[in-house]
Amino acid sequence: MRKGLVVALGLSFAASVALAHTGVKNMTVMKRMEAMQSMGDSTKVLGQMAKGERTFNAETARAAALAIARHAAETPVLFEERAEDPKDEAKPVIWEQFEDFATKSEKLEKVAMRLAGSVESVDDVRAGLGEIGAACKACHEVYRE
Ligand code: HEC
Repeated sequence: MRKGLVVALGLSFAASVALAHTGVKNMTVMKRMEAMQSMGDSTKVLGQMAKGERTFNAETARAAALAIARHAAETPVLFEERAEDPKDEAKPVIWEQFEDFATKSEKLEKVAMRLAGSVESVDDVRAGLGEIGAACKACHEVYRE
């Protein structure tokens, strides 16, 4: 019992530290931001390869593209609930035309999967990254502040 309480306090402390990091209080908003940030990290890996700042490695490129595809598949689920936070950058119009929002996410999933399934050279990374970047932008333009 005592131990359980200590563990619970420890967990809530860890959670509040994570929240203090960005100032986001709503857990649903936090989760979707984390998924976006993770997508940003994977895109960065591809970007570094495309620019020659990182040695091309097909396995690493495939893993990054797969991670993007996985997060893209998850995006509509993460945004399904209309959660708000003073720090969020999601435009309310998402929930007025959720189908289009989901379609834009599917588009990203598709191009990321295609890259994951075909990448063999740095030129493939460059081409795939162009498509991925366009898919990120297509959604952000309309749905992100
Ligand atoms: C279907 C729409 C959609 C797609 C596709 C999309 N995003 Fe986002 N992104 C959003 C929305 C909406 C927000 C704002 C979320 C919020 O503040 O709650 C966001 C926020 C972000 C953020 C800021 C996260 C934070 O901590 O505040 C990053 C980074 C990001 N996106 C990167 C990407 C990258 C990289 C891609 C492509 C690989 C991508 N996004 C594709 C909708 C999308």
